Amino acid sequence: PADPVADDVLAHLRAYPDYPSPGVLFQDLSPVLARPGLLARVADAVVVRFGGAFDTVLAIEARGFVLGAAVAQATGTSLVLARKPGKLPGQVHRVRYSLEYGEAALELQRGAFGPGARVLLVDDVLATGGTLAAAGELVALEHGRTVGYAVVVAISALGGARRLAPLDSFALVTVP
Ligand code: PRP
Repeated sequence: PADPVADDVLAHLRAYPDYPSPGVLFQDLSPVLARPGLLARVADAVVVRFGGAFDTVLAIEARGFVLGAAVAQATGTSLVLARKPGKLPGQVHRVRYSLEYGEAALELQRGAFGPGARVLLVDDVLATGGTLAAAGELVALEHGRTVGYAVVVAISALGGARRLAPLDSFALVTVP
């Protein structure tokens, strides 16, 4: 069935070969964000899919902050940021993981949400799923419950949705 929002995202996605390292095809969402009104329509699609199931949005640094903020604002839910190491003050949880192009870690402030929070994890791109899986571990460390994962674009060949299963991962657009 026709999905005008997904079509608009696909039309404004730009792929860059060998960025940021050889062999990586970088999916750049800059033209999607630059398209007036499109971010709000993408956020609405996420809300339709998960509406009512979450009370907290966990947005992933850096590009996940954009859609995460839009989803939290559209739903009047709590917005929490998962950040790269050393960016958050106070006591934090830290989870290390391997990325498509290197090693990384994410942090979450202790007490960022109450126990039993129903958390939707939001990022721009799902590639190997390492980032969102690590964010899911952060949610568990903070005694929240991950209700699902939402991204703008999933790269199917890298197997992220399988890695995150059986939890529900929603991608507005899936590219090979
Ligand atoms: C990119 C992207 C996702 C992640 C996806 O982030 O924004 O967070 O990689 O890859 P994965 O599914 O294989 O884990 P990056 O680490 O480049 O950070 P940035 O958003 O801060 O640029």
